[in-house]
Amino acid sequence: MYKNEEEVGAGINAMIDQGVVKREDLFIVSKLWCTFHIPSLVRGACEKTLRDLNLDYLDLYLMHYPMGAKAMEKLVDAGLVKAIGISNFNKDQIEALLNKPGLRYKPATNQIECHSYLTQEKLINYCHSKGISVTAYSPLGSPDRPRASSDDPSLLEEPKIKAIADKYNKTPALHIQRNVMVVVKSTTPHRIKENIQLFDFELSEDDMKTMLSFTEKRAFKLQWASSHKDYPLNAEY
Ligand SMILES: NC(=O)c1ccc[n+]([C@@H]2O[C@H](COP(=O)([O-])OP(=O)(O)OC[C@H]3O[C@@H](n4cnc5c(N)ncnc54)[C@H](OP(=O)(O)O)[C@@H]3O)[C@@H](O)[C@H]2O)c1
Repeated sequence: MYKNEEEVGAGINAMIDQGVVKREDLFIVSKLWCTFHIPSLVRGACEKTLRDLNLDYLDLYLMHYPMGAKAMEKLVDAGLVKAIGISNFNKDQIEALLNKPGLRYKPATNQIECHSYLTQEKLINYCHSKGISVTAYSPLGSPDRPRASSDDPSLLEEPKIKAIADKYNKTPALHIQRNVMVVVKSTTPHRIKENIQLFDFELSEDDMKTMLSFTEKRAFKLQWASSHKDYPLNAEY
């Protein structure tokens, strides 16, 4: 869907070939786009991803959206992926999946939109209570997303967030200490470096409260799927 796997694969393989990293030191995640959820299409989609990345296996393969979901367990059995996960699932959908008779591989993670405008406390607590980790996507509020409207507030311009960033000598791109993984995107080398400097500071309890105190504003409302029976965003969480 993002049309970037050949380039990402070329980068990864160049670093492996140059001895900079080994495959087993990397944790590589891809997602199954919704038009490939029919069981007979799942393996082919995964194999195409592996071909484009020029890799033998993925560490984690996510079902991109709950609409049309089918299990991907056979990919684990075939050794093409080490673990499977879900994305954009709400509580009821996770519960339904966990209660599915014969479920063999519990999803390792639920990748959901999560940032200071969408703190997702209830869903995070629910996932953690079920032993499912949470991955935050668009952790900076996705300022460059295609459908952003010009009057949408910008998280990175939020004065209270800027003040906290100044205090810790970090850019406003602060991440959250909530036992949640983060996938942040940048095409700017110095920001990519900056965004992995996560382990040399800790936000105080008060600053954490501030980071979680903003009015809710979802960046990805998935309007294109709003009439689907499995549309995930009508539920409270
Ligand atoms: N599962 C899903 O349905 C789903 C949906 C959306 C996104 N995602 C995933 O989430 C990842 C990130 O999401 P996203 O790209 O939507 O949003 P994001 O990471 O919140 O925001 C990316 C934007 O922030 C800027 N940025 C990055 N680091 C910065 C820094 N240190 N200071 C200032 N600006 C900075 C980037 O600019 P530059 O590039 O110009 O540096 C880019 O414009 C993606 O890789 C995607 O795979 C998943």
